[in-house]
Amino acid sequence: MTVDTSAAIVQSGPPNSQGYREFTLGEFRFRRDEFFAYLTWPTGNHIMSVDAFLRALQRDVAWNFFYGVVNFDSVFGTINHYGTVDMFAGRFNESYRKAELDYSENIETPLIAATFAEMLEDWTNQTFDPFASPHETGPAFGIKNGNNTAAITRHRVAAARMVNVPGDEPLRTDGNGHPVNRMFLDVPQDEPEIEAEPGFEDQVAAFSLFAYLSRSPVTWNPSVVSVCRDSLFCPTTEEYILPIIHGNDRVEWFFQLSDEIHWDVEDRDTGALRSRVVMKAGDVCAMPADIRHQGYSPKRSMLLVWENGNAELPDLIASGKTPTYPAEF
Ligand code: PHB
Ligand code: FE
Repeated sequence: MTVDTSAAIVQSGPPNSQGYREFTLGEFRFRRDEFFAYLTWPTGNHIMSVDAFLRALQRDVAWNFFYGVVNFDSVFGTINHYGTVDMFAGRFNESYRKAELDYSENIETPLIAATFAEMLEDWTNQTFDPFASPHETGPAFGIKNGNNTAAITRHRVAAARMVNVPGDEPLRTDGNGHPVNRMFLDVPQDEPEIEAEPGFEDQVAAFSLFAYLSRSPVTWNPSVVSVCRDSLFCPTTEEYILPIIHGNDRVEWFFQLSDEIHWDVEDRDTGALRSRVVMKAGDVCAMPADIRHQGYSPKRSMLLVWENGNAELPDLIASGKTPTYPAEF
């Protein structure tokens, strides 16, 4: 979904001595210098490495605030209320909560979307691609050095039915700018042969998901490749660390399609560690609706995230009408 941000008025100042603008949203202020992003709000302040900040910001912008909570780290983040967004500091941090120093503001989605998008544009230098693996991007650091608009406004793949259905998201090819990634050179590139009943030729489609994923230029960026009502297949290729700590508002299933990812799974509200999960090729797991998680992928790997797009789920789960886990054994 895209948000109409045309009516939103973004508040920002002139470039600072490193060349970057400062942004204000509600009572929050954001500024960056060569290495860091600095955040302030009425009850505190925070510092993050600017590469980590921009990687998280990129995902919040591209995913339109995603499902539930996007923690940039253990202090700052957003909660999607699907129309408005809470921007918070310390909200899911037990120490901030106990000291009553946590702070949160509810903002109309178009305003936070426009502000975050402008900050991402101004703070991302031409050398840096926030979606790329660390091996495939230059540095985020230093004084202001151009922009990388093409990288930060990439088309987000979201099939209406399925990749390779006529009129829907196309296959990836060398010709449309999607060469096979250096880590997936061994992935077969042949496509399935379709033998349709006469008269049904234009209604049957198929594609090789492995070949499709081997040509993904980005990391930690689920794309919707097939849709059946609320059932969304959102595969992605991963390398290094998921740049956000995702707090779920519904159950998600993970299918590890290749290689290996290590997950830290924590209590969504306090951050207390709940489990560590090491998923190897072929493993399947469900992440409950009351946790937050962050993944570590030692080599580029393929992960299928299976999402339930039902808009009623957050309320059903928050009110206890639907359990936080997907199956009784
Ligand atoms: C998740 O939060 O479930 C998630 C997000 C991005 C990914 C993989 C998983 O690439
Ligand atoms: Fe998640």
